[in-house]
Amino acid sequence: MCSSSSTARFRPFQETCTRNPIYMQALAVAQHVNTVVLKVHCSLPFRVLGVQYFISMTRPPKAQPSLLFRQLFEKESSTYTYLLADNAHPDRPAVLVDPVDKTAERDAALVEQLGLKLLYVMNTHVHADHITGTGILKNKIPEVRSAISRASGAKADLHLNAGEKIYFGNLYLEVRPTPGHTKGCVTYVTGEGPDQPSPRMVFTGDALLIRGCGRTDFQGGDASQLYNSVHSQIFTLPKDTLVYPAHDYKGHTVSTVGEELKLNPRLSKDEEEFKRIMKNLGLPYPKMIDVALPSNMVCGVQDPVAT
Ligand SMILES: [Fe+2]
Repeated sequence: MCSSSSTARFRPFQETCTRNPIYMQALAVAQHVNTVVLKVHCSLPFRVLGVQYFISMTRPPKAQPSLLFRQLFEKESSTYTYLLADNAHPDRPAVLVDPVDKTAERDAALVEQLGLKLLYVMNTHVHADHITGTGILKNKIPEVRSAISRASGAKADLHLNAGEKIYFGNLYLEVRPTPGHTKGCVTYVTGEGPDQPSPRMVFTGDALLIRGCGRTDFQGGDASQLYNSVHSQIFTLPKDTLVYPAHDYKGHTVSTVGEELKLNPRLSKDEEEFKRIMKNLGLPYPKMIDVALPSNMVCGVQDPVAT
């Protein structure tokens, strides 16, 4: 017999079923299990003859974030600038990390050519060897907001704190404090999770360079602090995390956390050895520092040119 829970609406169908032995066998099995899931996918459940069905509705798939990534180079200061955008988002929102004044026009043109909406220009720290391109980019694209760590003491539209997430579309960069090269250095890490880039990417500024690190003898630098920053905030990331520094002087473009843990000639040592190495570098006075610092403390914001 068909289930007594069936409604009058289905009675003609039931009466037909009861005369069909194959159907009755199938129904007996279904009643034993009590639930038959035909398709569980954005489902609307309903029950007929004690059997639970699910209506499958068509739902457009959610657009997965897709990272557009460019590594750009400024040859005089050997600085890398990074462009990241959410290519799957209709607005194609983007951020630039560590632009340089000399190549800011190139960066703005690339943003325009690729049809991106630049939201933030983010600096990893107050640079001493070049002037940031932030001011020029803000003049060219007025809606862009400058960002730098609160600890830097520099002027900016957005002051970043530890753990903050800066979203561009459905992607984000997490702010990690990595002082030691300067007191306000931060590192930006791409997001964690299935809808974020994999492997993760870390933009280390001068805290960690490929097979090196930034100097610690100016701008509130401290070798012990840098050692602990790198080991606690960068070397704790998964070993396949891609390392993108602010500079390279030997032609390297990218490394990994695992590679630097093992091969970095300074930071793979213990802290005492690291401090000894940093103390004995004997580097000359930075030639651009007196020009770059005052400008970078206001994120390179220039007064509009008088016409
Ligand atoms: Fe620096």
